[in-house]
Amino acid sequence: MERITALDTLRRRVADWKGSGDVVALVPTMGNLHHGHLRLVEEAAALADRVIVSVFVNPTQFGPDEDFAAYPRTLEADRRALARMPVDILFTPGAETVYPEGTAQGTRVQVPALEGMLCALARPGHFSGVATVVAKLFNMVGPDLATFGRKDYQQLLVVRHMVRDLCMRVRIVGVETVRDADGLALSSRNGYLSPEQRRVAPRLNAVLREIAGELAAGRRDFAALEERAQGELRDVGMDPDYVSIRRPEDLQRPMSGDCDFVVLGAARLGPTRLIDNVAVEQGTDTCRT
Ligand code: PAJ
Repeated sequence: MERITALDTLRRRVADWKGSGDVVALVPTMGNLHHGHLRLVEEAAALADRVIVSVFVNPTQFGPDEDFAAYPRTLEADRRALARMPVDILFTPGAETVYPEGTAQGTRVQVPALEGMLCALARPGHFSGVATVVAKLFNMVGPDLATFGRKDYQQLLVVRHMVRDLCMRVRIVGVETVRDADGLALSSRNGYLSPEQRRVAPRLNAVLREIAGELAAGRRDFAALEERAQGELRDVGMDPDYVSIRRPEDLQRPMSGDCDFVVLGAARLGPTRLIDNVAVEQGTDTCRT
């Protein structure tokens, strides 16, 4: 595995590979890698001949009161973890490469269809920051495909939407959430949890799964299910931003006759904001009979 920081070096490598017909995959990350990230690498390696993992802590997706400065930067450990994986290049561009015009005046990408809901409400500007940096990474690397985790479901849809809307030539592959044995979705921010908070944190996944079970059993009183779940989170000391049942394709509220749902939740536990989601996919045959 080669570590590359300079854009022209990266482009030469990718051009060589593409010249020999290789399929190239990109796995964008902000580092502090855990098994969730490594699953994205495995999936990329299964679908492509060459795998590039980028590590860049993107300033434009953090709000002014968020943890950009404190975000864990563990490049040496990340490099060691990736060296054991089928990874060809670790791409670590500097801010001057990603934002040559600076972050205040630089070009921004916006995906309005997925703003104004769910995580976008608590994190204004976040998804524009994500869409902007992912567009830049795609333009820098020129991958044939890129893998994204379903854990960040709204982010996955933002990226899919952007790719379609801007006619980008890259296939977006969604990868299942990797969890600890007690259900907690792996996240770089779990490291902020105290032992007591870590004990409580899996409740978020548990309440989302409860709702998913009830939807699968035929319940359709969405608002009551959402309210009850938020109450359960408050009871264990979490401060829920939302628990919401949505349509998986566009995150709009479900309509009568819908059979597939995604149940999403975000909650603060002390200073840490946890997010998770659970899919309910039944197919019309099971759910309408
Ligand atoms: P980061 O939080 O480092 O996550 C990088 C990728 O790993 C994302 O696609 C995320 O959904 C995926 N991921 C995180 N935890 C996961 C888990 N438990 N199971 C499966 N996949 C998981 O998401 C970002 O960085 C940034 O917003 C980025 C897309 C890199 C743009 O800056």
